[in-house]
Formats: sequence, C-alpha cells, structure tokens
Amino acid sequence: MSNATNTIESVLVENRVFPPSDAARNGARIAGMEAYEALCKEAETDFEGFWSRQAKEKLNWTKPFTRVLDESNVPFYRWFDDGELNASANCLDRHIGTPVENKTAIVFEADDGQVSSITYKDLLVRVSQFANALKSQGIGKGDRVIIYMPMTIEGVVAMQACARIGATHSVVFGGFSAKALNERIIDAGAVAVITANFQLRGGKELPLKSIVDDGIALGGCESIKTVLVYERTLSPWNRVEGRDRTFAEVLEGQNIHCPPTAVGAEHPLFILYTSGSTGKPKGVQHSTGGYMLWARMTMEWTFDIRPEDVFWCTADIGWITGHTYVAYGPLAAGATQVVFEGVPTFPHAGRFWQMIEKHKVSIFYTAPTAIRSLIKAADSDEKVHPKNWDLSSLRILGSVGEPINPEAWMWYHRNVGGERCPIVDTFWQTETGGHVITPLPGATPLVPGSCTLPLPGIMAAIVDETGKDLPNGAGGMLVIKRPWPSMIRNIWGDPERFKKSYFPEEMGGNVYLAGDGAVRSADRGYFRITGRIDDVLNISGHRLGTMEIESALVAKTDLVAEAAVVGRPDDLTGEAICAFVVLKRSRPTGDEAKQIAAQLRDWVAKEIGPIAKPKDIRFGENLPKTRSGKIMRRLLRSIAKGEAITQDVSTLENPAILDQLSQTN
Ligand code: PRX
Repeated sequence: MSNATNTIESVLVENRVFPPSDAARNGARIAGMEAYEALCKEAETDFEGFWSRQAKEKLNWTKPFTRVLDESNVPFYRWFDDGELNASANCLDRHIGTPVENKTAIVFEADDGQVSSITYKDLLVRVSQFANALKSQGIGKGDRVIIYMPMTIEGVVAMQACARIGATHSVVFGGFSAKALNERIIDAGAVAVITANFQLRGGKELPLKSIVDDGIALGGCESIKTVLVYERTLSPWNRVEGRDRTFAEVLEGQNIHCPPTAVGAEHPLFILYTSGSTGKPKGVQHSTGGYMLWARMTMEWTFDIRPEDVFWCTADIGWITGHTYVAYGPLAAGATQVVFEGVPTFPHAGRFWQMIEKHKVSIFYTAPTAIRSLIKAADSDEKVHPKNWDLSSLRILGSVGEPINPEAWMWYHRNVGGERCPIVDTFWQTETGGHVITPLPGATPLVPGSCTLPLPGIMAAIVDETGKDLPNGAGGMLVIKRPWPSMIRNIWGDPERFKKSYFPEEMGGNVYLAGDGAVRSADRGYFRITGRIDDVLNISGHRLGTMEIESALVAKTDLVAEAAVVGRPDDLTGEAICAFVVLKRSRPTGDEAKQIAAQLRDWVAKEIGPIAKPKDIRFGENLPKTRSGKIMRRLLRSIAKGEAITQDVSTLENPAILDQLSQTN
C-alpha cells in the first residue's frame, strides 16, 4: 500500500494532541487560544479597522493610506490603495538607527561549506549600489526584470534592488529550462535578466547564463535590453556584446545611497509564475503594501520571531516560500537568517542538522519531502541521523508545501525538535502571498497532519460546488470568503483567467477558491488539506500542471501522438508524475520502451525542467476515452496507482486499452 493512502488513513484516526509547552507559550506574541480567539473576534467585528491597525503598526508609509479596502470592482480588491511606501525601505532602511542596523541580516553558507555574513547596514549599501546599477542601465519603476539566480546573498540583493526602484521582479527557479524562461520573459515583457554564470549545487557547477542565452535565442524576447551576470565561479562564459554586463562592471563607482522609490500600495512588487490547470503557467501578481504587511505579520504570528532568533527557511528564492520567508519576511522582521546555496544531501544527508548546530538555528522551516528523504537516509546510515548533532538551539519547526504525513511529523518532532519544539504546518499558496491556515506556536494545540486553524482575519471555509458551507467532518472545497491584504491581485495580463480561476460565478464571484480539497475535524474544527481538486500536481512540494507536462510531451512531434498525465502517490515525493503516451509509431515494449521513455524524460526536462520529468511512462495504442472522445483521467489515476478498476467503464469507447496500459514496460 502506498504511503499517501497510509497517510490518509492515519490522519483519519489521528488523535494525538500536542498543546503548546509553557516555554513556547511564555512570552509569545499570541499566547494561548484565548489570545488567538480575541484577534479573530476583533477581525470579524471590525474587519477594516483590524487591518488598518496592523498596516499602520507594521509598515512604514511615505504617504499614509486613508482607504483600507476598496471593493468597488470585485474580485479586483485593492488594499490601502492611496497609501505609498517602498518594500525595500520596509526591510532595510527601517532598521537604520536602531540596534538592528549592526545585526547580521544574512549568514550565507555556500555549497562547499564556506560561510560569509552581512549586517543590515551593509546589506542596505549592497542593495542601494545594485539599485543604482539597475538605474544606470535605464531600468526604472514599472519595468519588469527577470531574476534567474542561485541561492546567494546576490539573489536577495537583486530582488531587493528591484523593489527599491519600483521595478517588478519575476524570479524564475534556476531549475527551469530555456523554454520556460523564454515564455516568462515574453509574458512579463521583461526589459532585463539578472543571472549568474553558473550555480553550485551538490558539488557540481551547473550553467545558468547559457540557459538565458538559449531562452532569449528561442525568439520573441526583443524587450530584453540588458543581461546582468553575477560571476559566481571563475569558469568562463559566453558574453553577448552590447547586451551582457557583469555585476562588477555595473557596480563600479556606484553611489552607496539610493533613495527608495515610493510606490502606491497596489504597485506590483512581483510576478511569480506558477502552474494552473491549463498548459500555460499563470503570472501571479502581488501588491507592495498588502504583501509586505503579510510578510512581516506572519513572521511575528506564525514564527513568533524574536530578536535573538536565527531563522532558516530552506526554500529557494525561485518559489513563493523563498520570496516571503527569505527575501522579504525575515528582513522586514529584522531577523538574522541563514541562506543556503546547496542541497540537503551534499556532502552527506546530515547537512541540515550540521548547519542547525553550526549556525545555532532557532527556527527551521522546510518541506515534508526533504524530511522524508532525510528520514530514509538516517534509517539507512546512523551517521547522518540528527542525533549526531546538537540541535538544542531549535525553538520552532515549520513545514510547508505539501501535506506532512503524521509519521514524518512525529519523526520531525522527536528527532529534530527533541519533543520540545512546536511544529507549524503552514498551509498557503503562491496566490495567498503568505500563510493562511497554520498553527500558532504559543497558542494552538497541534495535531500531526493538520494545518489546524486560519490566521485571524482569514475567513476560510469548506463548501460544496455552489458555495454552501459544509459541516465539520464533510470533505469539500477550501475557500476564503473575504479578501485579505496579501492575496493575489491578478494574473499578469489575463484578468479574465484570474476571475475564472479563483472567483467562480457559481459561488457569487467574490469567494476565493483555493483549488484544494479539505475537511475539518469533527471535534476541533481543524483543517486538513486533502490535495488539489484541479489538474495541478504537487511533486516534492513543487507545483506542476498535468496539461503543462502533456503539452511538453506532444511537442515532441516526431514521436508523440497523444499524451495524458496524472499523479500517483509516492512515498518520498508525495506525488509522482505518471504519463500515458501514444506514439506515432507502433507501441514499443521491453528495452525499446525503456529507451524511448528515457528519451521522453530528457525531452520534458528540456521543455520545462528536470522537476517535471515523469517517473512512470506507459505506452498504449490509445488512451481510454468516452465515445465523445474525452480522456477518462480517473481510470488513468487508478491504473497509475496499480489499483484494480472497479469503476463503471461502460461509457468507454475502447475498454481493452485498460489492460494494455496496466502493464508496466
Ligand atoms: O495543495 C496545496 C499545497 O501546495 C499548494 C500550493 O503550492 P504553491 O503555490 O507552489 O505554494 C507552495 C508553498 C506555499 C497548495 O494548493 N500545500 C501547501 N502547503 C501545504 C499544502 N498542502 C498541505 N499542507 C500544507 N501545509
């Protein structure tokens, strides 16, 4: 039986409860459930007053707002919209003249273990100089800039510098392909790309700049005037004259001061592409004011961040987690954070634990997939078990990106948290900007496998297709009934898709549909996320659309006639990609099938990125279709899981195909 099925069963019978310890509760910003409930009540009774108070307290405004929420053009909600501020000033300048200015902002550990660090004051200088460098290249407010960088201080500096001059960044994860980069450059209409010659991961030097060149060469990128290259390694790279400049060249002689450009609260701070249920990724557009408020507030609420904390979020800046909890939140909160370039298994699978000991990390935030793979490694090699390191600095643990199975939760709790650290299982999405349903470490009794309760002011509910509330215990669709400050503002250039994807007419057009299924427990009303209800997969916490992978497969026009992609549960990665493929030639078997499958995997890696490579590829002469030609995906999902088909197949045009597809190559 698969692990995910196990997970569901064990969550259903999950009755372990872990109330906050006195240590976690004492001194917490939100101490005890009474405090949490009081905040929820305040948000309910005076919704706008609540957010107004938070926004005034937590952000520095160059021009104060007078309007809190504008609902005149639903679902295009506007927050604090006549106010002006700058995101970078709220992360850096605001600490100058306070004790934080000389505090370490970032401790950087490189792939090879070298450590460097930078204070808030010095980070402000670095960001200001780079912001001036961007200006010297003609980049300014409203321009879009693609960032394709490794996990480095420079990656954070690039994001902050864009924010400082009011340019909208769009970070593309360094594992995405030239084609993915090309599509994003075109969709965003970007004027520049900021990249590095190479990135270092797991002892290997992997190219970035040459992929940018390939992406631009695919065509349609005439908007790109400049490519800025951070020379991460000494290895040579190919320079395109007139377009490419190194960091050193553009930083030469730049002033260390750069006044932050004030922007309206609704000015797009960034666009981040994520997968949806069609082939084309969505450019999720976030605001400056509401987003920054959330980044700072959730650092305080969810992580209860304190001045002496060392915070470490292991996410890459290419994902939303790396935006909110690396590039913006920790800095807005004035925290010291660790930024890590490498991978958890290099040079050994005890690297995370070793780094926690070395940097005295007190808040550690990672993904269930990483935990599961490190459990596996520790089970097979005692030497990399967390018990070999001193993890007593830890105070709070976090989990993000996918459901954490109770077994992994318990292991994390015992072996990493020493049974002392609360685990915050944070549910959120690229679209929500930050945590929306999560335990609070000093308040919420924890139940393994549950993200527990919504943050104050988040009106989360579980409803049926018509938007009707369902009782606790009944599974349905997760929605958020009222807007919140850090919510997605638009899909870049596609307002119709924004409305259709997130605010269905059947629910009144003003309720945010998360795209996840969920159920609330009968006793506590705790939320448990049961997984996506659309055609989005979650592989190791990375979001991919089935249609996106199908489009990539059928783009191999010399070989593939048709393809259907589904997810199946996987012990390690949560979900795995399973592709059913019809070739233009006869169905291959044996070694030939293996060979073609390998070829197709490489092809998908080239089209999207290695994370999108299907784990299983099965060949058929056809796909199971209804008489009207619709592919029956639920049957494919059963086949992918290795389940016997018990569903009604009488509407199927070609039932015999099921047997063929059930055979593994
Ligand atoms: O299915 C949910 C899952 O990840 C999806 C969002 O993916 P993305 O936009 O890439 O953002 C990931 C990082 C926030 C959600 O729709 N998900 C995220 N967190 C959890 C989760 N599923 C269960 N439990 C979580 N804590």
